[in-house]
Amino acid sequence: MAEREISQAVISRLPRYFRYLGELRDREVERISSQELSRLMHVTASQIRQDFNHFGGFGQQGYGYNVEYLYQEISKILGLDKTHHLIIIGAGNLGQALANYMNFQRRGFIFTGIFDINPALFDRQIRGIRVRPMEEMTDFIRQNNVDIAVLTIPKSEAVAVARKLTDVGIKAIWNFAHVDLDVPEEVQVENVHLSDSLMRLSYLIGRYESRQE
Ligand code: NAI
Repeated sequence: MAEREISQAVISRLPRYFRYLGELRDREVERISSQELSRLMHVTASQIRQDFNHFGGFGQQGYGYNVEYLYQEISKILGLDKTHHLIIIGAGNLGQALANYMNFQRRGFIFTGIFDINPALFDRQIRGIRVRPMEEMTDFIRQNNVDIAVLTIPKSEAVAVARKLTDVGIKAIWNFAHVDLDVPEEVQVENVHLSDSLMRLSYLIGRYESRQE
């Protein structure tokens, strides 16, 4: 499928379409119109059509979209038809929580290694994965075809570790450290800040309350 440059806004909506379609598929729904999908997802039907048109429209014919086809196509666009191997750097609270959340595996994200600098954590098993010293990271990435590194270390450490990851040829960094990483264009970075989401929630509370006054 020839893809034009797609805006970040459209891409950020794809996982949500994918989730809803997955639920429809589980319920064995075969077809869905953009109006029905719109009601379900609380977005306008024209937004859905516009978003899908970036990818050729997914062949809406007669009565709506074929759910299975749409699900598979969005899965391919999101790269979920492939397996990704991840390592976690930083086996603290967040790193361990992510390692324990095995639902990612269902989507083809396989955690293969966890690394830390704290010797007290070495050899501890988290969901059957051994915490290894950072000195082993480079060889491990090379030998295990690791494409994504998850950074759950203090921000003061993140830039230097990102540089090491870049040097060894990592494809992507899922960055939880609160610092912007300066990496070459071939390395993809997704920053995750739970506090941003909480601040948006706080804003919504304030907006709702000011409308009631
Ligand atoms: P933690 O202190 O429990 O764990 C951090 C771990 O990183 C420790 O085990 C430490 O030994 C290890 N570490 C330190 N330097 C390292 C290095 N150079 N290489 C490898 N491992 C190293 O901290 P926690 O609560 O798990 O948070 C981790 C990071 O995630 C922090 O930067 C925190 O601010 C951030 N965070 C981000 C969130 C977000 O939404 N983006 C939410 C919660 C935490």
